[in-house]
Amino acid sequence: MNRTGIEGTAAVVTGAGRGIGAAVARALAEDGASVAVVDRDGANAKAVAAGLPGPALACPADVSDPAAVEDLTERAERELGPVGILVNVAGILRPGSALDLDDRDWAEHLAVNAGGVLHACRAVARRMVPRRSGAIVTVASNAARVPRTRLAAYAASKAAAVQYTKCLGLELAEHGIRCNVVSPGSTDTAMQRDLWADPDEGARSAIDGDLAAYRSGIPLRRIGAPEDVADAVRFLVSDRARHITLHDLYVDGGASLRG
Ligand SMILES: NC(=O)c1ccc[n+]([C@@H]2O[C@H](COP(=O)([O-])OP(=O)(O)OC[C@H]3O[C@@H](n4cnc5c(N)ncnc54)[C@H](O)[C@@H]3O)[C@@H](O)[C@H]2O)c1
Repeated sequence: MNRTGIEGTAAVVTGAGRGIGAAVARALAEDGASVAVVDRDGANAKAVAAGLPGPALACPADVSDPAAVEDLTERAERELGPVGILVNVAGILRPGSALDLDDRDWAEHLAVNAGGVLHACRAVARRMVPRRSGAIVTVASNAARVPRTRLAAYAASKAAAVQYTKCLGLELAEHGIRCNVVSPGSTDTAMQRDLWADPDEGARSAIDGDLAAYRSGIPLRRIGAPEDVADAVRFLVSDRARHITLHDLYVDGGASLRG
């Protein structure tokens, strides 16, 4: 068997109650990690943790609450061992025009999508530093780089999360800790389907693109699966990526036309 360095490592995965986060939790558990399944939906966190093949801990918590994140990190270290992997997946998306954006929506996007990343990285990385090892991945979005209509708050919050993760990675490199970003495009989850008025038409429009909304389509002509994103994460946290840090890996079927 090829060793990945994931075996026997404790991992914290936020937003793991469903969608991409649940797929990441499963991928890491399959590779031998014990996983703290963090989600503000406690019932989903419990169900995912119960279905994992290895040791797992359900941690109901809101990542926008720094004290709750500190508590769950403490608990994960006590019950699963030193946390060597952190994957930030928790996120919210509420579409709305940039002009009519209200203060509360703006603040909530920043609190969860950027603040949540700060809180989890801070709690986990402070424990990684003295151990001189660890891998962190933030799941952002291709919207962090490509402007999108009706996604101003979401895109801005994701851009903040990307740049925070990269600056953190720069500071932590000398401590042997790697920090990378995975940026998905349209991926088949509840968050994506909530954007579609009709499932067939929504998928077709995402694949074909929409010139009126200045949105390119998906060159690979499919909607991503949560497992596509999870596979990128499992690579970046593994020893196979031991010389990769500050990277932003797009998993979007080419949608952002990024060279
Ligand atoms: N699905 C897509 O097309 C897509 C594309 C690009 C980026 N993303 C990003 O990937 C991540 C996962 O998306 P998804 O599609 O699986 O979404 P999802 O809505 O299906 O799942 C998100 C999970 O995060 C949890 N969560 C939300 N706010 C939280 C908080 N404050 N504290 C703790 N948990 C919280 C939710 O309860 C949910 O279980 C998100 O950050 C999203 O922005 C998704």
